[in-house]
Amino acid sequence: MDFPLDAVDELLSTTRSVRRRLDLDRPVTDQVLLDCIDLAEQAPTGGNQGSRRWLVIREADTKAQLAEMYRDGGGRFMIDAASQLSGSGHPNEKTMASAAYLAENLERVPAIVIPTIWGRHDGSGRPGLFDSVIQASWSFCLALRARGLGTAWTTVHLQKADDVATLLGIPDGVTQIVLFPVAYTLGTEFRPAPRRPAPEITFFDRWGWTNETPADGAQAMAFGPGVSVEIDVDVPVGALWKLVTDVDLPARFSTEFQGGEWLDEPGPGARFRGRNQHDARGEWETVSTVTDWTPNRRFAWAVGDPEDAAARWAFELEPLAGATRLRQTMVMGPGTSGVTAIIDQKPELEARIIAGRRAEHSRNMMRTLGGIKALAERA
Ligand SMILES: Cc1cc2nc3c(=O)[nH]c(=O)nc-3n(C[C@H](O)[C@H](O)[C@H](O)COP(=O)(O)O)c2cc1C
Repeated sequence: MDFPLDAVDELLSTTRSVRRRLDLDRPVTDQVLLDCIDLAEQAPTGGNQGSRRWLVIREADTKAQLAEMYRDGGGRFMIDAASQLSGSGHPNEKTMASAAYLAENLERVPAIVIPTIWGRHDGSGRPGLFDSVIQASWSFCLALRARGLGTAWTTVHLQKADDVATLLGIPDGVTQIVLFPVAYTLGTEFRPAPRRPAPEITFFDRWGWTNETPADGAQAMAFGPGVSVEIDVDVPVGALWKLVTDVDLPARFSTEFQGGEWLDEPGPGARFRGRNQHDARGEWETVSTVTDWTPNRRFAWAVGDPEDAAARWAFELEPLAGATRLRQTMVMGPGTSGVTAIIDQKPELEARIIAGRRAEHSRNMMRTLGGIKALAERA
């Protein structure tokens, strides 16, 4: 069968967490829920065991008690957080308002569905008891969306999992994973969410090795080979911006980068000089130009001619609830560089030369991030 790809891709890219657009008044039949559960049961299951059990909660009083447990488990925190963020323009303002709405109205949804699985995460290493419920649960969400219904993947009630088990009579040895408020959606148009593009988060052959464009197994300058390394730092983004824009700092950690100095006032379009030294290649100097200066977010620069850079580098700061995921990325090319000079001499070794360079960069970048983390967390 040829699948209508447009429709399938739209389903996969627009199955959102729906809360404020749940139609609390339109009834949902058992049949549509059972159809979706049948589809969900087609998901893979560890050891091919049929260990999933689904609970559908309809009774008004039981829904009300579950909603109270949801609020006790974290829903009330969401309601408070939403009122604090209201009008602040904070990046989480909308999501928190939506989460709070659900926490306040959970008892009003036509049905609550709780997928469970026989088994405990007990470290026994038995195949996929517990992990067999996630994929089925997501299939359930997709099947709902295809029928005009929606839900949100929620877990805060798990703080009160024992109370939920007592209320619903769930036996010992059965694990709850998620709670789905299920309803028809108000309107069926939903948009894809902003997510990082695949080439930035997909590594080829080694952790952190990226390709700007599809390389189909090759390691070649033509595909923008790069490296991405990350570290979680226990300070907010604001505390890191000064460190990552200090262009001399990496010299303290890198075995190759010897020092840097700004040639212009730091900011968009500013230039800085860097001194480098490498066992095999001796010493050299570069001038780089800032290509992105988004305070507390991203500091990017091109080495050499910004129109035909030898390489493109960036520091990226991603906020994580009071902490930061700090990332450094580099892409070789598209212009000429020390690496392309070596490849020109031995074109048949292009893949090995690139692999060697990636490994060197990866080590030095990780040392740099580790050094920045230590400095930031000490201060
Ligand atoms: C493991 C997990 C737990 C979640 N727990 C909750 C929750 O307890 N309450 C809630 O309202 N949303 C919860 N969500 C939904 C996320 O907040 C949601 O995915 C996020 O807002 C992004 O929206 P989107 O799913 O439409 O892209 C959870 C999602 C996941 C994957």
